[in-house]
Amino acid sequence: MKTLLERTMRGAMGVAACPAVRRALRERLGVGRKSDSQTKDPAPKPPPELPLLFMLSHLEEDGPVRLDGVKLGVCEVMGLELDEPKLGAFAGALNALDFPAQLLVRQHPPRLGRLRENLKEAQPDDLPAQTKAASESLRGLLTNLEARDGILDRRFYAVCEFERADELRGLLAKAGLSVHQLEGRQLRMFLVSAALGGSPAEFDEDAPVGVEINRLDVRVCLPGQTGGHLTRSLHLGKWPRSLAPGFLQSLMAAGAPMDLSIHLGPIPAEQAARTLEWQKVRFESAQSLSFKRGRTMSPEAEIALEDVTRLRDEVQRGRERLFHSSLSVTLHAKDEASLKEMTQRAKAHFAATLGKLDNLAFRQREGLLSTLPLALNAVAVWRTLDTSSLARLFPFSPPDLDTRSGTLYGIDLRACSPVVYDSWDGTHLNANTAVLARSGSGKSFATKLGVLRGVTRGVTAYVIDPEGEYADMARAAGGRVLSPGVPGEGMNPFVIERGNSEELLQRIGSLRRLIEVMVGEPLGAERRASLDHALAGYYAQPRERTGFRDFHAYLQSDGDGELARLLRPFATGSLRHLLSDEGDDLLGSEALVTVFDLRLLEPELRPAAAMVCTETVWAAAAQDSKPRLLVVDEVWSIMQHPEGAAFMVSMAKRARKHRLGLQFITQDVQDLLSEDSSRAITGHSGRALLQNAAFKLLLQQDAAAISTVGDAFDLPADLQRWLLSCPRGDGLLLARGGRFPVRVEATPEEAEVIEWRPGAHG
Ligand SMILES: Nc1ncnc2c1ncn2[C@@H]1O[C@H](COP(=O)(O)OP(=O)(O)OP(=O)(O)O)[C@@H](O)[C@H]1O
Ligand SMILES: [Mg+2]
Repeated sequence: MKTLLERTMRGAMGVAACPAVRRALRERLGVGRKSDSQTKDPAPKPPPELPLLFMLSHLEEDGPVRLDGVKLGVCEVMGLELDEPKLGAFAGALNALDFPAQLLVRQHPPRLGRLRENLKEAQPDDLPAQTKAASESLRGLLTNLEARDGILDRRFYAVCEFERADELRGLLAKAGLSVHQLEGRQLRMFLVSAALGGSPAEFDEDAPVGVEINRLDVRVCLPGQTGGHLTRSLHLGKWPRSLAPGFLQSLMAAGAPMDLSIHLGPIPAEQAARTLEWQKVRFESAQSLSFKRGRTMSPEAEIALEDVTRLRDEVQRGRERLFHSSLSVTLHAKDEASLKEMTQRAKAHFAATLGKLDNLAFRQREGLLSTLPLALNAVAVWRTLDTSSLARLFPFSPPDLDTRSGTLYGIDLRACSPVVYDSWDGTHLNANTAVLARSGSGKSFATKLGVLRGVTRGVTAYVIDPEGEYADMARAAGGRVLSPGVPGEGMNPFVIERGNSEELLQRIGSLRRLIEVMVGEPLGAERRASLDHALAGYYAQPRERTGFRDFHAYLQSDGDGELARLLRPFATGSLRHLLSDEGDDLLGSEALVTVFDLRLLEPELRPAAAMVCTETVWAAAAQDSKPRLLVVDEVWSIMQHPEGAAFMVSMAKRARKHRLGLQFITQDVQDLLSEDSSRAITGHSGRALLQNAAFKLLLQQDAAAISTVGDAFDLPADLQRWLLSCPRGDGLLLARGGRFPVRVEATPEEAEVIEWRPGAHG
C-alpha cells in the first residue's frame, strides 16, 4: 500500500508526461495558491504539486530524498534537559561537528489514540459496569487532553545528509543523549506530520489534502477538517546580542504548537580565525583612528573588540568554532486570531532581548521549508555564531515522562504533557512506587486511582489496608475484601516452590522474619538460629502441602518447643484463622482487586498480618509472574520493627523478579527518613526501602518534614517551597533520574468508584 506522500510524489514525477494526470492530481489534492487580498496578482502561476511544494522527491525506507537528489538521515534525540554538564557535553558535540546539520524541535498536541486503543484492548471482559464506565471515561480524558490548550508533545530531531547520519548520531550519543534513527513507518508518519502539522500519527492514505499559500500564512486542509489550520513561518532576522541559557526554552514553554529549526554550517577553523582576525584589525584601526582624533571609543565598540579578541583566541585554541546559523519558527493555529496572538507573543519574546523575528511576507513557503526536516535553509539568511552561544541557544527542555505505553498517571505541570508509563514494561529499575506526603494530601486518592487504572488494563491489585479505607472502592471495582483473622479468610504463605533453591533460601529468610514479628519481641541469636534450622529442616522433607499449622506441629515435635509455645496463639489460639491452610485459597483464585482489611485486628498484630499478606502475594507472584500491584498503606507500622523493615526491604529488592510492583505509602516521612537512630525506624532501612523504589511520589509536605525530604531527595529550595503549598493532588514524581511536577487528575466516573460509599449511591 502506498502512502499518501509516495503516491503524490509519483503523481508529481509523472506530471511532465501527462497533462491530464497533472490536472486531475491537482484537483484531487486541492493544491492551490490563493492570492492575498493585498496582492493584486492578475494571473497566478500554476502551483507546484504537494511533494514538489515540500521539496521531496521520494521516501526510502531509511530516509527521505530531497528534490535535488540528496538523501537525508533523520534521528530523534532524547534526554535534552538543561543542566551545566549536559550543556558542556552538547557544546563538545557541536565543536566536533564538521558537516551541515539541522536541529529541529517540534511541539504539537499529543496523539493518544494508540494508548487509547491499547487500553481498550487490555481491558478485562468481566469488569463491573461502574468500573467499565470509569475505564471509558479515562479514554475520554485522553481525548480531552489531545485537545486541551497548552498540552503539548515536544520532540527533538537532528537531520543531515544520509552519509553523515552515523557520525551525527555518534556525536550526539557521546554527549549523553539517546538517539534513534527514524525508519519505515515511523519515518513516514514523522514526515507527513512535519509537512501537514501535528504530532506524528497514522494518516489516511487516500485523503485529499489542500495547501494554500498566502502572503503571511499557509493554510493546510486535512480531510475532516473544516477550514483547515494555519501556519506562519518566521525567521530570526536580528539576533539578540547575548543568549541566556534556555533562551528558546521559554519561547516554547509559552505553550503554542510550533516547529523550531536551527540550521548549522560549520566554518572551517582557519577561515574562522582569518575572519575574526580581520574583524579584530578593523575594530582596532577604528580605535586608533578615534584616538588620533582625540576621541574615545564608544562602549559598544569596545565590547565588540573584546568579544572578537576573546573569540579569536578561543577559536585558535580549538575551544570554540564558528557556524553559519539560521533560526526559523513555524507557528500553528486553528484560526487567524490565535495565529496573530501567537505571532505577537513570539515576537515580543525576541524583542525583549533586542532580537527581531521577521515576517517572511511572500516567503512563507521558504519559511515552511526551513522548518521541515530537509536540512535546507530555504530562507537563505545566515548569521555567524560560536559554539557556546549555539549550545546555550538550544531549547533544552524539561524532560517529560511520556513513554507512550502503560497508562496515564497525571499531567506534567512543567512540560505540559501527559505522564504516561508502564511500571511493568521492564525498562525501569523496578515497578515499585513510594508515596510520601502529609495527611490529607491525596495519597490514598492517587493510589486508588492507580489501582483502578491498573485494574482496567488487567493489572491484578492487592491492598494491605490498616484503616479499612480501600474496602468500598474495591467492592465498587468488582474486587474482594478479606479480613485476615476471620474464619475462612486466612492465608497460607508457607507454600514454597522447593525446586528453586535460591527462591527457597530467600523465602525461608522471609518466613523467619515474619515469625520474629509474630512473636512480637526480638529473638536472641540462639533462638533465631534454631528457628532457621527448624524451617530448613521442615522444607527439606517431602510434604504434600506445607502450611503454618503443619510447621507448628513440626516445631513442637522436632524443633524448638519454647518457640512453638510462643507461636501458639497463631496455631490454636485467637489468631488461628490468620494463617490457615483452608478457607479461601488466595493462590488458587485471584480477584481483580483484593483488599486485606486489617482494621479488625489489634494494632500490635497488624504488622505481622501485613507481612503474612505480603508473603502470600509474593507466593502467588512466584507461581505465576504477571503484572501485579501490591499497595502497603501505613508502611511505617511494619518498618518500626527491625525485622519488619528487613522484610520489606528484601521484598522491595526481589519484587521485580516476579513482576510485582510494591507501592508503599506513608505520612510519617520523618520517621522513615530520619538519620536519628532513637526513632522507631532507623533511617537506614527507610532509605534502603526508598532506594528500591524506581518511582517516588511526593505530594504536599509538612513544614516540619520538608527539610528532611529536601535533603533526602536533594530538592532545590523552590521545589521544597512548592511542595509546602501545592494544592491537594499535586506533587513531585521522581523517576528515571528526573523530577516531574504532576497533577493527579481523575474523571468524575473514576472519582465515583474511588470514593464510593455503600448507600450513598443508591
Ligand atoms: N487528585 C485529587 N483529585 C480530587 N480530589 C482529591 C485528589 N486527591 C485528594 N482528593 C480529595 O481529598 C481527600 C483526601 O485525600 P486522601 O484521603 O487521598 O488523603 P491522604 O493523603 O490519604 O490522607 P490520610 O493521610 O488521612 O490517609 C479525598 O477524599 C478526596 O476527596
Ligand atoms: Mg490515606
